[in-house]
Amino acid sequence: MSHGPSAPAQGHGHTHGHHEAYEPVFTPGSARLKELQDVIARYPEKMAALLPALWMVQQERGWISPEAMTEVAAQLGLTAAYVKGVVTFYTMYHQHPVGKHFIQVCTTSPCLCAGADKVVDAFLEHTGCKELGLTSPDGKYTVIEVECLGACGFATPVQINEDYVENVTPEKVPEILSSLK
Ligand code: FES
Repeated sequence: MSHGPSAPAQGHGHTHGHHEAYEPVFTPGSARLKELQDVIARYPEKMAALLPALWMVQQERGWISPEAMTEVAAQLGLTAAYVKGVVTFYTMYHQHPVGKHFIQVCTTSPCLCAGADKVVDAFLEHTGCKELGLTSPDGKYTVIEVECLGACGFATPVQINEDYVENVTPEKVPEILSSLK
């Protein structure tokens, strides 16, 4: 089962420290700029291209930095504050670098009662992430808790990038992790 309009965010292995100069995504002549212009051309308002533009950034960089928000704002004639508001509103957009495998565990009540907290602990331990929201030292994993994934009858469901795994137990976690490419 797959949700969302495009491929999962992938880590790119390089760091994103603020000391580095920002490299724009939509550079003149780039395929991404062409893609963005094609989307813009389909709508009467440039603003309609905001969500696709943010997806493009996330696919390229793995997350959406403040500089990227400014770049997207300039492309679409919006303010950076407006773009930030949208990025903040949608949980699918990452405002910080995340691991190549973004692991979301449902911990809403029905799943919690079925032991979702133990599943979270197992992911934190076996990925080396240690804490929720932190990326593992190898850059491969980030684990977060999320609200109901709509699979309450299959506790505990876990979303890894755009794939769903149901009936996850702590015992199954190592096998799930080793199956990730
Ligand atoms: S409460 Fe966990 S999927 Fe609904």
